[in-house]
Formats: sequence, C-alpha cells, structure tokens
Amino acid sequence: MSAPKLTSAPVQAAVNAHSHPEDVPSASSSVVLASPVSADINAERGAQPSSSSSDELAGPPQAEAQGSTQRVADKWLKPNGPPVGATFGARLLTDEGAVFEHNAWDHVTLPDDFKERAEEIMELHRSNPVSENLRDGYNAKPAHYWNKFYSAHQDGFFKDRGWLRLEFPELVACSEADAGPKIVLEVGCGAGNTVFPLLMRNENPDLVIHATDYSKTAVDVVKANKMYPRAEHGSGILHASVWDITSTPSTLASSSSTSTSKSGTSATAEPEEVTYTLPEGIKPGTVDVISVIFVLSALHPREWKQAIHNLYTALKPGGLLMIRDYGRHDLAQLRIKKNRLLDPETPNLYIRGDGTRVYFFEKEELEGMLVAPPSPTLAASEVFGEHGKMFEIEQLGEDRRMLVNRKERKQMYRIWLQVKARKL
Ligand SMILES: C[S@@+](CC[C@H](N)C(=O)[O-])C[C@H]1O[C@@H](n2cnc3c(N)ncnc32)[C@H](O)[C@@H]1O
Repeated sequence: MSAPKLTSAPVQAAVNAHSHPEDVPSASSSVVLASPVSADINAERGAQPSSSSSDELAGPPQAEAQGSTQRVADKWLKPNGPPVGATFGARLLTDEGAVFEHNAWDHVTLPDDFKERAEEIMELHRSNPVSENLRDGYNAKPAHYWNKFYSAHQDGFFKDRGWLRLEFPELVACSEADAGPKIVLEVGCGAGNTVFPLLMRNENPDLVIHATDYSKTAVDVVKANKMYPRAEHGSGILHASVWDITSTPSTLASSSSTSTSKSGTSATAEPEEVTYTLPEGIKPGTVDVISVIFVLSALHPREWKQAIHNLYTALKPGGLLMIRDYGRHDLAQLRIKKNRLLDPETPNLYIRGDGTRVYFFEKEELEGMLVAPPSPTLAASEVFGEHGKMFEIEQLGEDRRMLVNRKERKQMYRIWLQVKARKL
C-alpha cells in the first residue's frame, strides 16, 4: 500500500459516521481484502476492532480545523462538546511498516488490487440476489422497515456527533448568536443525530430547525427527546415532522387516503400545478441549509431525481445542500451477505438484515443527480434561468479510513462521500 494521501477534494473527518448495526465494522467480517474474498462472504459479525470505538469521535487533521472554522467550532462546542483539535482523524500512515501499530488510519490510499477484489465480492452479490417474490415488498413499503428499526432502537441510535462541527461548519455558522434568521432542514433525521447537537449549542434566537423523516417512529423518537422542541442550553426552535423526500404531489394524494401513509407531507400548492412536495411549515425558496446524512442511500435510484428536485425547491438561492453517504466498496457493502442485492438490474442497492435499503455511491452518481434537470416534466431552461444548472458543487470528496485488526493482521476500508452544493 502506498503512503496515504488525499486524492480528491479533502473531506475533513474520517469517521464511522453512522451506527446502523450493519455498519459496525467487524473484525471477523468477510470484507477483509487482505484475505480470500469468496470464503468470507457469509461470515457472521464478530467483535468490533477496538479502533471502532473511536470512530464517532474522529475528527479531521488539526491543521484543517484552523482559522475561522476553528473559532466557530470552539464556540459551538462550549460548554458541552469534546475539545476541538483532538488527534482523531489525523493519523496518517507514512511508514507502511507501521500499519499494525494502530487500529485505524485516516485518508488512506486504497491498495492497487482493492477494486479487483471488491468486484469479486460484487459478482457474488449479483449472482445471489434477493428472491423475486420478496423484492417488490421491500420496495413497496421501505418506511415500514425504518419504523421497525426505530421501534427496536428508540433513541439508542442517538449519537452526539462531535465530527459534525468540523465536517459541516456551515451548520455551526447558523447557530452563531449574530447569524440572523436561519432555516435549517435536516432530512432523514432519524433519532436526531444532527439536530440535537446543533440545537444544544445554538446561540441564535432566530434559528429554526426542521427535522424530518418518513419514518413516523423516528419522528416520535425525536419528539420524545427531552431537548425537543427547545434545548436546555440553547435557544431557537425545532420542528419535527414526517416527510418523504421522494414524494410527489400525486404520491401524497394517494397515500393520504390510507392510514398507513408513506408520508405525512403536505403539498404547498395545487397538486395539479406543482411537481414537488415540501415538509410542513416550509415554503419554497426559504431554506438556508439542508443536511442529508446517510439518507440518499436508503432510496431507490429511480427516486433520486424527485428527491433532489424537492430539496432544490426548498432551498433559497445561495442555500447549501450538504450530503454525506456511503461510497462504493465501503466495508459495509463488501461484507453484505448473499441474497441481499435487491435487483440484479440495479447494482449496489441492497437490503440489510432488518429490511432497510442501502445504496453505495460513486462520486459521479451524486454529482450527476445534482446537475440533472430537476423535474421530469420541466426543461432545465424553464427552471434555472440564466444559470442553466441547479447547483454549484463546492465539495465532492471521498473520505477513506483504514481499520486494522491487529490481532488477525487484517486491513479493512471505510469509504464515505461528502458533497456540498450551493443552489444557484
Ligand atoms: C441511515 S439512517 C440515517 C439517519 C440520520 N440521518 C443519521 O445520520 O443518523 C437513514 C434515515 O433516512 C430515513 N429515510 C429513508 N428514506 C427516506 C425518505 N424517502 N424520506 C425521508 N427519510 C427517509 C430513514 O427513516 C432513516 O431515519
């Protein structure tokens, strides 16, 4: 393996950003590319490598947290946050002989044969998809599985993520005392992993945060949190509501007639004239910052376009869309078992053991959905005017972290993507 370096726009922290049970790196998992690939494909999860406990705390190299971002982050963290400038995320492997001396290394370069070996695993996935009679059920009621997930985990899924302040200083900036009126929309908020840390340290009395999820159970978990709607130490306000990022006025109309509706969204204008839906309380063109963290991966690729169209509509011109999600060949993908690929026609989309969907992105796919025309029914020129495009992409980065099982002398790779796109 060659010396680590960033080969793309720097993504700041390298973290285990999401603690879905399927995503906890496993020391005994199959996805250890230093070992034979096929033999391990069905290995059970075992103990975590000791490194994983630090993942949630991981931050960027200290040098990247300097300047104004550092100052804003310092302020945001007082009085409750971990110290800024911790060394997590800053461990760079400069001596290959030292690889087994620590549990994790940041910003690594993948081994030359990584892709080839990963493709061997993916070929196994392709030849062993989900059985056809189950496939439609998974796609028909995806929220059902997330409801079950949150029923089982409640706020056990909640993590006060220290790394958010460093990855997304734009969120922190909205919470500054003198930031003025700001609207933040968190999509797929889950148990509130983004909104509560933001609210807890908020000093902006004019900050309004909308936490939305299409799982009603997740929204109930947020509402049951003692910090809802106001954090003990902060000001500002938090609204939680059910919203399906992929919904159209017509899917809303049909779902609202059933008690098990896919979304609780209300459209903001006459359904026959609009092509988008927005969460309750949000008007088109009003949101300053949208965060979508490990949510697009839960969608079917055919839903991406509508999702981005809805987000684009919510943002004000100059507003920022921030995405973090799984990258192609991430450890979580490579250790997926047989009979989990949802459809051979849709590579990289899987069903986890608990029935929730997960997709693993190439950077180009995220980029593509941000530059494509926003609506199936509208030409780009009708919508974008002089700009001719939706977003200016300010960051499109890949974040790679190597986890090491020192006992078994195995190396595993986490790969996350991060995008910041500004509405034109
Ligand atoms: C992997 S969890 C991430 C939760 C949270 N963003 C975090 O990082 O902790 C994915 C979340 O997206 C939500 N979700 C999935 N599909 C969605 C959709 N179509 N609209 C809104 N939320 C969705 C799920 O209910 C779940 O809470």
